[in-house]
Amino acid sequence: MNQSRFPHLIDLDNYPVSCWNRITDLSIDIKRNPHIYIGACSGKIMGTLFYEPSTRTQMSFQAAMLRLGGGIIGFDNPANSSVSKGESIKDTTKIASGYSDIIVMRHPLEGSVKAAAMTSDCPVINAGDGGHLHPTQTLTDLLTLRAEKGTLSGLTVGFCGDLKNGRTVHSLLKALSCYKNNKFVLISTNELKVPTYIKDRLSASNKEYTEASSLEEAIPMLDVLYMTRIQRERFGSPEEYEKQKHVFRLDGKKMKLAKKDMIVMHPLPRVDEISAEVDDDPRALYFKQANYGMYVRMSLILSVLNEDIKTKPLFTGKIYPDVYCRNPKCITASEPSLPHVFRNHGGVLECEYCDERLLLE
Ligand code: ASP
Ligand code: CP
Repeated sequence: MNQSRFPHLIDLDNYPVSCWNRITDLSIDIKRNPHIYIGACSGKIMGTLFYEPSTRTQMSFQAAMLRLGGGIIGFDNPANSSVSKGESIKDTTKIASGYSDIIVMRHPLEGSVKAAAMTSDCPVINAGDGGHLHPTQTLTDLLTLRAEKGTLSGLTVGFCGDLKNGRTVHSLLKALSCYKNNKFVLISTNELKVPTYIKDRLSASNKEYTEASSLEEAIPMLDVLYMTRIQRERFGSPEEYEKQKHVFRLDGKKMKLAKKDMIVMHPLPRVDEISAEVDDDPRALYFKQANYGMYVRMSLILSVLNEDIKTKPLFTGKIYPDVYCRNPKCITASEPSLPHVFRNHGGVLECEYCDERLLLE
């Protein structure tokens, strides 16, 4: 299989932990000394291919590149591009990567950005692939934790809401499991629990986690509360969404039960899971968190374009031509020309695009 030579960021695992720390260190310096970085990417172009809506990720990436002196091209509505004529991800990426030095892509299907990276002629950054992963949000979250809690270790972190479809939750849980002595409280309904492959990852790194259904009961023990939106666009039917919305709501009364130094994070957008009264609580950090996102993306763009990142192979598994991933939201279900690549864990195959598992017969 053709392995790409570029430092793509599809999953944070693509970069070593030391690199995550370097990126967040550099973001802190950029925030403190922005004048030093003006023009650092002059003459470079970033292509933003957004097949799904975005406010923060797209705008902070664009602001980041403009502040570094670079230019931007791209689309934020595929209906206005030749995607609407039926062009594949492979072809769109091939073309856009010929015009750009770095591509940032968001797409509703899981594994889609990895598929795009296969044919790209420049580095590709995953800005969210369906309900799967969102690594640049995680870099933002790691920077927020370092800046506001002073550490990435020894924290009890509660994740609340849609833990099944929340890609920011998956990426952040995986990342925090790489640091010492973190504990997790996973607060959700039965239907919206964290996927098994993420829980296995926590167990494999000896991280303690508990599952809970009451925010009120869990909140007193937390150092960090990571609230999330119920991901309406990922549900099979409006009825299923109706049953899940409004279940969790953080308000002033619940904040009274929390530690004095607990911080509240949220990747945003918020719908109604945090009431507006919480915004004035100094522990509510979600707007500040979104602002950190721009600095972390400046740092990421610089690191990628300066080739400061060691490249790992995009795929580690093997091609199984006759095996099909069973996840209907996996990119392989809609782009049949993609090779079927799986990691084999003792007879359990894990799809390299979306992490769905199946038993080898
Ligand atoms: N903005 C985040 C994402 O794109 C969280 C959300 O949409 O709820 O995953
Ligand atoms: N946090 C985040 O990804 O926000 P957007 O969906 O607005 O980009």
